[in-house]
Formats: sequence, C-alpha cells, structure tokens
Amino acid sequence: MNFPPTMTTKKKTAPPQPALRVLAVAGSLNSQSVTRVVVGEAARQLSAQGCEVDLLDLLQEPLPLYNPETAYDAACFPALKRRVDQADVVVLGTPDYHGSISGALKNFLDHFWREFAGKLFATIVSSHEKGLTVTDQLRTVARQCYAWTLPYGISFTGQEEVKLGLVSGSALAKRLEMMTRDIATYGRLLAAQRRADLASKEPGFMARLRP
Ligand SMILES: Cc1cc2nc3c(=O)[nH]c(=O)nc-3n(C[C@H](O)[C@H](O)[C@H](O)COP(=O)(O)O)c2cc1C
Repeated sequence: MNFPPTMTTKKKTAPPQPALRVLAVAGSLNSQSVTRVVVGEAARQLSAQGCEVDLLDLLQEPLPLYNPETAYDAACFPALKRRVDQADVVVLGTPDYHGSISGALKNFLDHFWREFAGKLFATIVSSHEKGLTVTDQLRTVARQCYAWTLPYGISFTGQEEVKLGLVSGSALAKRLEMMTRDIATYGRLLAAQRRADLASKEPGFMARLRP
C-alpha cells in the first residue's frame, strides 16, 4: 500500500547519546592507598562498559588548600574545573578518617558546588568499621550541592579485601560489579535528564543553573 507523504510511518531514530563521562577521584594521599586500588578497579570496569573515565588522583595532582579568596585564581583551577564540568558522574573514594572523609577529598569538594548539581555521586569508603558515617557525610555533601547519589555506597576493609594492589575479596568484587553497572545505567538516565533540563524552560531545580 502506498501512503501519501504525510502518512509515512518512517521510524525516527533517537539521536546517539554521548558516552557517559565519569570523574573518579582517589581521595587518599597514601602512596600505598587501598582506596586508590578500588577506585582504579571501578574506573577499569566503567571504561569496559563504554564510559569515558577521567581518574583524578589527589596524590599525583595535589590541590592547594581551599581558600575562597585565592582558589579560583590558582594555576591548576581552570583545568580541574573543566574536568568537573565535563563529568556526568563523580565517583568519590576516601579512607575513613575519624569517622569522616579525608581532608584531601574534602578539599577537592570545597572547590565546587554548581558543577556537581544534577550529577550522580557514587561513594567508595575504606574503613575498619563500616564507614557509615563517612558515606553519610558524602551524601550530605551531595545534597548540599544538588547532586544525586546512588541509594547505597561501597565500604570495604583494606587489609581483608585488597591484596598486592588488587581487589581480592569476593564480596567487594561483587559490590563493585553492581555499583559500576548502576553507575552506567542510572548515570546515563540522569545525564540525559540533566541535559534536557538545562536546555528547557521548565521549572525544576536545574532551572537556576541554566546559562
Ligand atoms: C588519621 C586517621 C584516622 C583514621 N580513623 C579511622 C576511623 O575513625 N575508623 C576507621 O575504621 N579507620 C580509621 N582509620 C584507618 C583508615 O581508614 C584505613 O587504614 C584505610 O584503609 C586507609 O585507606 P587508604 O589506604 O586508602 O589511605 C584512620 C586512619 C588515619 C590515618
């Protein structure tokens, strides 16, 4: 049957989605850090799932202590801001220090807020306990910056689950597999909605972040 031109049923193909961009932050300055090992493994798995992963190791790329009067003029700031701006998802790895996050990670986080809004945070905590207060503090930072978080975080015990620079514990390996799958899945959904909200004129929490 021949349809008139106005009635053609040609299927519209959805525009291709850009690769999900993930900034993975290793927030321990210990050269033998187990947090770095696990963040690195998460980065490897995310790359294998087609994500573009940018690894920020705060030991290799030290950031001056945040001072609101000088931080934005620091030589390293524009490039770091570009990396944060580009990210759809931020993976935050930290050791448990006194039930809290490391100073290095807090210092990184203090440099930004608008740049995090509408993005997904995923948290990885190395702790001898369960790291619950640390995870909660990262969730508080996310809330203050209008970021989403996965409904769970990963915590692990370094000596038991990381050996010779590799993830050795099967429970941690399973949790990482779950987390990287969820980052790729929910990260894509949230990134698409964030882009749509930034481009639209609808009300919503992203309205104030439109250029
Ligand atoms: C200053 C300091 C404070 C710490 N406080 C805690 C703590 O309150 N609870 C805990 O379980 N572990 C605590 N730890 C242990 C670290 O969280 C643990 O060794 C972690 O695996 C270190 O991670 P990293 O190898 O990535 O640096 C502390 C370590 C340091 C150096």
